[in-house]
Amino acid sequence: MKTIIEPFRVKVVEPVKMTTRPEREAYLNEAFYNLFLLKAENVIIDLLTDSGTAAMSAGQWSALMRGDESYAGSTSFYTFEAVVRDIFGFKQVIPTHQGRAAERILFSIMCKKGSIVPNNTHFDTTRANVEYLGAEAIDLPIPEFYQPAVTHPFKGNMDTEALSQLIKRVGPERIPLVMLTVTNNSGGGQPVSMENIREVRSICSRYGLPLYLDACRFAENAYFIKLREPGYADKSVKEIAGEMFGLADGCTMSAKKDGLANIGGFLCTNDESLARQEKDLLILTEGFPTYGGLAGRDLEAIAVGLEEILHEDYLQYRFASIRYLGEHIANAGVPIVQPPGGHAIYIDARSMLPHIPALQYPGQALAIELYREAGIRSCEIGTVMHAEKHPDTGEEMPSAMDLVRLAIPHRVYMQSHIDYVVEAILEVYDRRQSIGGYRITKQPQFLRHFTAQFEPLEN
Ligand code: F0G
Repeated sequence: MKTIIEPFRVKVVEPVKMTTRPEREAYLNEAFYNLFLLKAENVIIDLLTDSGTAAMSAGQWSALMRGDESYAGSTSFYTFEAVVRDIFGFKQVIPTHQGRAAERILFSIMCKKGSIVPNNTHFDTTRANVEYLGAEAIDLPIPEFYQPAVTHPFKGNMDTEALSQLIKRVGPERIPLVMLTVTNNSGGGQPVSMENIREVRSICSRYGLPLYLDACRFAENAYFIKLREPGYADKSVKEIAGEMFGLADGCTMSAKKDGLANIGGFLCTNDESLARQEKDLLILTEGFPTYGGLAGRDLEAIAVGLEEILHEDYLQYRFASIRYLGEHIANAGVPIVQPPGGHAIYIDARSMLPHIPALQYPGQALAIELYREAGIRSCEIGTVMHAEKHPDTGEEMPSAMDLVRLAIPHRVYMQSHIDYVVEAILEVYDRRQSIGGYRITKQPQFLRHFTAQFEPLEN
């Protein structure tokens, strides 16, 4: 059968408010053209993120009732810990309220001013947490990563030659850890191959450096390995994930993605002495180590979610649905990051809107237009999010790419919603010449994309 069907059915529905174009125009105005500042009730299809937006299963909802809310030694913690140990294989499991809390604790313990952290590509909060400590976050993706139209089965890989050179240049003593983000979110939700993880591991071992995985989308990464890497077709996603984690010394995890939970995260390590220091800091800012900022019921929901994400029927459907979206728009000429990613389609806004200079934010312009056209909320991943300042002049510099991410929440939308998104993108594509750029009127010092205010420029 060619028809894509959801391998789940609906038990509870959530009405969607339909809006008109003039209403959306007013909402855009009120939100200063920043889609993060829209009220969610005014969004018809919300593709801002796959993070914390999953629809929970009947199994997860019933597990909530088992939540043990004891301050210390909660039964729910031990359930959660057993599942995480079973899938991830690490000895020490430290719950946190979400991924960035795990990052902050890990980097606070391992990094200091002047440290250097290499990663295939840091996610924005990961980079911000490294930089906040006065350390330097360095991205070392393979060259294909920066070429949206070029396909590569493992476009999320780290450039291992560049890693070796960096270590030789700065010295291993300045590098407290090496990270690999699976999948590589910032440039397309692209996977990292087992071969690449193994190579990075062997470089780390040569210099005595620990390797950590940013594991938010580990199951999607493992499923890509199963589909694309020779020798893995007959292994289960769980076995592949186990092999990935077996090559690492620890991980940070946002359970809001492949944990299919609405909140939560954790930090894992095999190093007991590090774990002790991490737990001390956890108590200071997140909570006692058997809850780490989460309710017992959240730990239960994560435990069930981590088991459910390994269901291969679900991953097969998810990839088919996302590929369908990517192929339908790409076949009509819309430039996308190729190949389609595991959790999202990324439109190459810079190529689609070449008449808008990068410093007039083509990604932002496209994201605004999709909302105006059809009430679809997407996310700019480009110059608004990643611009850097020129070291001498302080002038803003464009980021390497201007992308718009359409991230698909887990189990929330049906194929008809995907068809609606395809139609809306093609409408906007047809009138792309009429779309103008934007300028920023107000911005904060860090992570400006969340709160910056914009104004349309005359086209
Ligand atoms: N690492 C990666 C690769 C991520 O994608 C995210 C979050 C985090 C770390 C931080 O986790 O949100 O639980 O604190 N990504 C979301 C996104 C926000 O939309 O891609 P968190």
